[in-house]
Amino acid sequence: MSQDIKKILQKEILTRTDIIGLLSAEGDDRNQLFAAAAQVKEKYVGKKVYYRGLIEFSNLCGKNCLYCGIRAGNKKTKRYEVTEQEVLDAARYAWENKFGSLVIQAGERSGKEYIRRIEDLLREIKRMSKGELGITLSLGEQSEETYRRWFDAGAHRYLLRIEVSNPDLYPKYHPDNKKHDYHARLEALYLLRKVGYQVGSGVMIGLPFQTTEDLADDLLFFQQHDIDMVGMGPYIEHEDTPMYQYKDILMTRVERFNLSLKMVAVLRILMKDINIAATTAMQAIDPMGREKSIKVGANIIMPNLTPTQYRDDYKLYEDKPCTDEDAEECKRCLEARIHMAGGEIGYGEWGDSKHFAKRKHE
Ligand code: 5AD
Ligand code: SF4
Ligand code: FES
Repeated sequence: MSQDIKKILQKEILTRTDIIGLLSAEGDDRNQLFAAAAQVKEKYVGKKVYYRGLIEFSNLCGKNCLYCGIRAGNKKTKRYEVTEQEVLDAARYAWENKFGSLVIQAGERSGKEYIRRIEDLLREIKRMSKGELGITLSLGEQSEETYRRWFDAGAHRYLLRIEVSNPDLYPKYHPDNKKHDYHARLEALYLLRKVGYQVGSGVMIGLPFQTTEDLADDLLFFQQHDIDMVGMGPYIEHEDTPMYQYKDILMTRVERFNLSLKMVAVLRILMKDINIAATTAMQAIDPMGREKSIKVGANIIMPNLTPTQYRDDYKLYEDKPCTDEDAEECKRCLEARIHMAGGEIGYGEWGDSKHFAKRKHE
């Protein structure tokens, strides 16, 4: 191992330069980084991996992010919304199989009727599961009042990726208008925290024009904003999006994957007690992507519970896995995978961010 990496890994506090050094590690240095991250994980969050049963509620979206396959402007996508009964069936499946928590994810919409429908669904899920299922929402930017209504109806965690923390890069991947405003997104993270949610954020890795320095700043962003949970993964191009024009200047997919794995490992060392997801995009590139993430620091996994007939249409990027498998298959598959990665499953537990619990008691 090089002396430099050894020195960095022994430090209490990592500087930006240290982080850039770790993200650039290759060969034996990289293995040392992974080993150090695995140790931190074992010590601070343990071996347990917590489930969040994922319901991709709808691919209707009012936004037009330039990288995303379900952007409003993609007329090739067939739009759907899962029925209330199907959501409740999926929630019951999660509850009966002791998944502990659900994530409800969808494109961004904010009509009155929609907001009320989500609110009703949350109450129904809480009632059905006798309050036992934890609920995470991933429904985009909303008003403070909406965040509050959904919180009061039973959601207690919210995921809103900043996507890229550099305000100068943000407009490269989003249309230049008020709906896609970096500062509004930042404000949303603040509001979520104020309302009382455990707040999750994240970024995409390997975007065109993004540098290792930017990625180091992304990690520091999570730290500065005291984020409780992080989900991040490789950017994967989608043919029917404007950003497909940059496909030839991207790193290879394997390089993006390897960089994402290092991001997870460095984040675990930087923020020892947060929840980190092993994301689906990791598996889209490497069939063992999520297991590898778990080994180097991730402790959350999101088995897909979306009814199979809709899965093909929730295609944010190419090669999204699990589109043919149903809930039962994904459950069995994941169990085997997690055990292979040396993890244990936290059945029947919410698996809240330890970081959040700590900041609540301060
Ligand atoms: N590649 C990787 N991740 C993507 N997302 C959207 N489009 C892509 C893509 N092409 C991610 C965004 C969003 C999350 C739901 O999916 O980070 O927040
Ligand atoms: Fe909509 Fe989210 Fe896709 Fe942006 S990333 S277009 S908000 S679903
Ligand atoms: Fe869905 Fe493996 S997790 S098939």
